[in-house]
Amino acid sequence: MDKLRMVGGTPLKGEVIIAGAKNAALPILCACLLCDEPITLRNVPDLQDVRTMLKLLQEIGVTVSFPDADNRNHVVLNAANIKSSEATYEMVKTMRASILVLGPLLARMHSAKVSLPGGCAIGARPVDQHIKGLKAMGADIKIKSGYIQAETQSVTGRLQGASILTDMITVTGTENLLMAATLASGTTILENAAREPEVGDLAELLVKMGAKITGIGSDRLVIEGVEKLHSAEHSVIADRIEAGTFLCAVAATGGEVLVKHCRPDTLDAVMVKLREAGLEMEVGSDWIRASMKGRPKAVNFRTSEYPAFPTDMQAQLMAVNAIAEGNSTITETIFENRFMHVQEMNRLGADIAIEGNTAIAQGVEKLSGAIVMATDLRASASLVIAGLAAQGETQVDRIYHLDRGYDRMEQKLTLLGANIQRVK
Ligand code: EPZ
Repeated sequence: MDKLRMVGGTPLKGEVIIAGAKNAALPILCACLLCDEPITLRNVPDLQDVRTMLKLLQEIGVTVSFPDADNRNHVVLNAANIKSSEATYEMVKTMRASILVLGPLLARMHSAKVSLPGGCAIGARPVDQHIKGLKAMGADIKIKSGYIQAETQSVTGRLQGASILTDMITVTGTENLLMAATLASGTTILENAAREPEVGDLAELLVKMGAKITGIGSDRLVIEGVEKLHSAEHSVIADRIEAGTFLCAVAATGGEVLVKHCRPDTLDAVMVKLREAGLEMEVGSDWIRASMKGRPKAVNFRTSEYPAFPTDMQAQLMAVNAIAEGNSTITETIFENRFMHVQEMNRLGADIAIEGNTAIAQGVEKLSGAIVMATDLRASASLVIAGLAAQGETQVDRIYHLDRGYDRMEQKLTLLGANIQRVK
């Protein structure tokens, strides 16, 4: 298993280019299942989760091609000849986002068999709302031996438009139902819809494919079903979580970095907190120049759905709080078990205690390097940030978690002057 080894204490300096958003690319790749014509995508991040999703789509019968020889960010998908509408346990167990094939397969093929995603490190993460919404659209859904078996029931085979209000805001739940609704007969209203920018990016592609969607970016999406969708081209939105991760790295190590090809307008809540922590930021339309002088100040924050502070940035900002001046409280409201990075950070000399869904961090002057273990994607990013700020050598094990959501992070950090290497 690969590890990352780093020696902390070097301020980051230079420029970093942000990739396309993982959490936009994953549903967008699944959207190709909705039509039998080619979908051309650019700015697709070259990540483990994207490679996993492409493999799953190919097993379903989608042809995947890369028009430019050595450029995996430009992909053409064609779902003209889907041969199966099944996502097996083997495929789904490595990536929960595989659930995103359920809605499109059911809408296009009128049947789908998708393995129930197991739990995951950060929480139970059930998919009951995805199922509730599809049932409201007329699907017959059975859970049998760990699989979701879904069939449409109407004479035409199509799903029926419906008014759906999810019990909580769910990002992939909104995306699954949005994709299914594009081909349903009649109008679907999604109340309490997720407003994350990645949902909006998916909706923009669907509209380019001929879908009729209004309310994009709001918590009420109205979709008028159409018979057929057609080919389209789309460039994936920049990854706000990758950008936020690098901003936290600058805040923790000091220095000055120009973050390019990002979308500052999707980072308001993160930038508000980082400014409070003392990070200076100059903002352009697709860039942020961040600089940090001295020690960060502790900031209290609480995660919530977009546009509030994102749960996917909680661990990274906690790493900044670990060495900040003062104490801070960090409340996680989305997932029930997203503090596994705390114990590992305390191994680096942090002083963080957990009380229910709140972590209390007493800022320390300096962390000291140690061997730590990544437990999930964003936790691993936070340990890299902490290691870059710590004195001495830190080794982060199990960084396959990191590779799921970051494209060669250590290479980007090396270009910023960090002393970091991947060790096989
Ligand atoms: C998406 O996960 C993201 N993944 C997650 O990013 C992100 O943390 C999360 O949204 C919240 O923003 C992708 O987009 C691929 P949810 P998702 O459904 O859709 C509960 C990362 O690091 N819930 O919005 O699975 C659920 O348990 C990953 O990139 C139900 O109870 O999250 C959670 O407590 C991690 N029933 C809350 O809602 C359901 O049917 C929000 O979950 C659905 C969700």
